[in-house]
Amino acid sequence: MLEYAAMRFDIFTLFPGMFAGVFDDSILQRARASGRLEIFLHDIRAFTHDKHHVTDEAAYGGGGMVMKPEPIFDAVETILGKNAADRPPLILLTPQGRVFNTNIARTLAQQPQLALLCGRYEGIDERVRVLVNDEISIGDYVLTGGEIPAMVLVDAIARFLPGVVGDADAPHQDSHATGLLEHPHYTRPLEFRGMRVPEILLSGHHAHVERWRRNESLRRTFERRPDLLAHAQLSETDKNFLRELGWSEM
Ligand code: ADE
Repeated sequence: MLEYAAMRFDIFTLFPGMFAGVFDDSILQRARASGRLEIFLHDIRAFTHDKHHVTDEAAYGGGGMVMKPEPIFDAVETILGKNAADRPPLILLTPQGRVFNTNIARTLAQQPQLALLCGRYEGIDERVRVLVNDEISIGDYVLTGGEIPAMVLVDAIARFLPGVVGDADAPHQDSHATGLLEHPHYTRPLEFRGMRVPEILLSGHHAHVERWRRNESLRRTFERRPDLLAHAQLSETDKNFLRELGWSEM
């Protein structure tokens, strides 16, 4: 059995309770139990020093509530250290960040340690950005806070850690990882409500199965996400199949 070092996440949030369930079940729980993944939740409110534990205040100039800088600085410097050069990369989850995708997940999975800062309310005080090394959005919509995006990052990154998903190759074959959407899957029963599993999958002919899967992957991508084809690695055989479907290279 190969032993892998753990990847460590430190998550700074006002709502640590939101993470229970997501990190305590299924594959992420198993990754934590096996020592492959370490997650530390830090409640920003615990780093306030006033009687009412205030973490947000009205924006200067008017508008909504803004997360105050002091508790965030205090939390980050207490947990990760005062010296920025010695700290792991701190990623702010914000709709203003670069848009997350599988390449970013794979790259971040190379890091031994990452820290995530979950924004809330209308935003964070701009001065917090001096602590931040990277800003990531999970898509062009606005959520109530950065907690769900932080969960999305941990999940997508953890899948790239060796030993987390059963088949080491699986994350690299998934939809998007190859630059294409994945082919359809079938399991028993052979016939279900009149729908039969494609004969080719029963043939035992590995090369034919692989070609069918590749073609179905190309077909799906062409039908649903033709934009992805512009950046996918396509062989001449792939291109000929796509042309039969009506695709024309840009
Ligand atoms: N916080 C609020 N919306 C977000 C988004 N789409 N991505 C990351 N953080 C967010």
